[in-house]
Amino acid sequence: MAVSNIRYGAGVTKEVGMDLQNMGAKNVCLMTDKNLSQLPPVQMVMDSLVKNGINFKVYNNVRVEPTDRSFMEAIEFVKKRAFDAYVAVGGGSTMDTCKAANLYASSPHSDFLDYVNAPIGKGKPVSVPLKPLIAVPTTSGTGSETTGVAIFDYEPLKVKTGIASRAIKPTLGLIDPLHTLHMPDRVVANSGFDVLCHALESYTALPYHMRSPCPSNPITRPAYQGSNPISDIWAVHALRIVAKYLKRAVRNPDDLEARSNMHLASAFAGIGFGNAGVHLCHGMSYPISGLVKTYKAKDYNVDHPLVPHGLSVVLTSPAVFTFTAQMSPERHLETAEILGADTRTARIPDAGPILADTLRKFLFDLDVDDGLAAIGYSKADIPALVKGTLPQVNIAHAALPLMTSNPKPRQLPRPSHQTPDPLGAGAEAGPHPRHHHHNGLQEVVSGDGLHFEWAEIAS
Ligand SMILES: [Fe+2]
Repeated sequence: MAVSNIRYGAGVTKEVGMDLQNMGAKNVCLMTDKNLSQLPPVQMVMDSLVKNGINFKVYNNVRVEPTDRSFMEAIEFVKKRAFDAYVAVGGGSTMDTCKAANLYASSPHSDFLDYVNAPIGKGKPVSVPLKPLIAVPTTSGTGSETTGVAIFDYEPLKVKTGIASRAIKPTLGLIDPLHTLHMPDRVVANSGFDVLCHALESYTALPYHMRSPCPSNPITRPAYQGSNPISDIWAVHALRIVAKYLKRAVRNPDDLEARSNMHLASAFAGIGFGNAGVHLCHGMSYPISGLVKTYKAKDYNVDHPLVPHGLSVVLTSPAVFTFTAQMSPERHLETAEILGADTRTARIPDAGPILADTLRKFLFDLDVDDGLAAIGYSKADIPALVKGTLPQVNIAHAALPLMTSNPKPRQLPRPSHQTPDPLGAGAEAGPHPRHHHHNGLQEVVSGDGLHFEWAEIAS
């Protein structure tokens, strides 16, 4: 397990100046976005820096849903100024941009793609020392304050990719629940959806002992190790908090108890998925947000079309878990129960549809957009969405439970009830199949990468 140091509590932001002083920092970069630079969390950080005599410069040009270009702008800014520490105040976009800036300023002769995940980048391990980075999250979704992952849109290919290395995880995360009170309700909902999927995906990811081959050197062990007994604890606990508090946090801006708990759940789920990994909801979300046409999410003050990350992951979740349940049906039932389903008489083969139904109900209660059609996609977009998903198999999301290579795929007829339709992911529940095959069959991506076939699980 790798995780940042974490400090939690109302008002801990005030200590950031002292922390930097204790680290011996003399020249600090405060990174944020334009919106937030006018809001209390940034003001609180600046007050603490001034009070403790810390020299700092503000970079407030972080892009919400960052791109390779916006990362490079931040990198150029920091490279010129020899900062000896960083403070990132914001959501995942800000924390991720700051991680990348710290990395490339510490490795000034590297090309941008050197550390980017393969196959888009070279995926080189990080062996240079980085400067301290303190992350102050202001949303409750990404858990980026705990992880060594930085995600961005790679514009030349219109796909999301990232940098994943334990070396870039923040030195310290200051989790201050007071910052959650400024969030509009859709931001709370969408970031909560991200927590929900982090927890569900990491708990149902391929178990660590089923991954192969074993890296020949620990430095090449990926950050995402597959589900394991330690990350499971964090994932399940985060899910329980989501079940108990997300609706309250969305509906009542003043519900400090609910918003505080969601702020913690974001970090807990981050610890879980930052070590276990995520799978299909995240893998498919990247083209969903990357290929956005005109959709502009409510409550987001940005000048470009935007499908917020949490929304882009959750829309496919009913279809994804219908599909993945055959791999670990007990875990799918367990999570459905945590989210409110009565599973006392449930049959194991129905685990997928039960979790999918439970998710649909949970999401409708939170006024989620009604499937991919509601955010501007039609059936004609499916080939492009599939094409944008496939590179993710090899990138940050190596913990896929079902999409795996098999030396001798055996073609079998596709069961007619196994046709998850992502366009209907958020749509009302139709009649569900009640007789899933549960006979050790596994789907694999075929050579052309565009259609699925069935093969036997090797183990
Ligand atoms: Fe996420």
